[in-house]
Amino acid sequence: MILLDGKALSIKIKEELKEKNQILKEKGMQTCLAVILVGNNPASQTYVNSKAKACEEYGIKSLVYRLDENTTQNELLALIHTLNYDDSVHGILVQLPLPMHINKNLVLESITSSKDVDGFHPINVGYLNLGLESGFLPCTPLGVMKLLKAYEINLEGLDTVVIGESNIVGRPMATMLLNAGASVSICHIKTKDLKLYTQKADLIIVAAGCVNLLRSDMVKEGVIVIDVGINRLENGQIVGDVDFENVSKKASFITPVPGGVGPMTIAMLLENTIKSAKNRLN
Ligand code: GUN
Repeated sequence: MILLDGKALSIKIKEELKEKNQILKEKGMQTCLAVILVGNNPASQTYVNSKAKACEEYGIKSLVYRLDENTTQNELLALIHTLNYDDSVHGILVQLPLPMHINKNLVLESITSSKDVDGFHPINVGYLNLGLESGFLPCTPLGVMKLLKAYEINLEGLDTVVIGESNIVGRPMATMLLNAGASVSICHIKTKDLKLYTQKADLIIVAAGCVNLLRSDMVKEGVIVIDVGINRLENGQIVGDVDFENVSKKASFITPVPGGVGPMTIAMLLENTIKSAKNRLN
């Protein structure tokens, strides 16, 4: 069994990005990411802090807007409008989830697609679905693809299962696998018999937010497992969606949690932000 070390790969990628960013700086371009957080969701606060910290560490300016839970939709849209027209800002990220009174889709559509470093704007989603990966790609699935590539895992013809159908991970993940030549099944909360799919799969990507969802009796020998889950147990321990102890005994490759997909997501956010600044310069 080989551990897919996202932490080590993310550090290597970030060091390379630091050099790319330095070249932009020498050309007079200070890369800048604006991050907007509405409300007090503790997990979101942690993610936003990690994103801002990574930016600073690698020479990207970050502007963090921490808005009150009661911020109106129009106030949020007005801030995005200002950032859309601010030439010193290259990436705009609105941390999800948003409070119930705000229409998420309207907000995501209001971010100009050229600064949509999350890859959630319908234009960028559209490019991905057309098999044209020329727009911005969502950071978590992009990080998974980079991790698989780094370990020379060829996806062509593989039988793959994606568990989870979110717009953030499951759907774009499935599309990227399809674009890479894999056969893809998408399973979700309403799937009648999950094991029916997973037991035949060469590669399983789990992004359901459910502790121990994937167990060893559900997978075949030699399976490749990517665990996108981040769950905090009552004792404070962070675990994924996979019963790592037992599934890892049958797997050929598997990601740990923490230290697998999580660090790759942040590296891809930096990559997208630098890509956006570079696009602007050109
Ligand atoms: N919430 C959970 N994951 C993400 C992400 O990748 N981007 C944003 N904006 N919000 C999230």
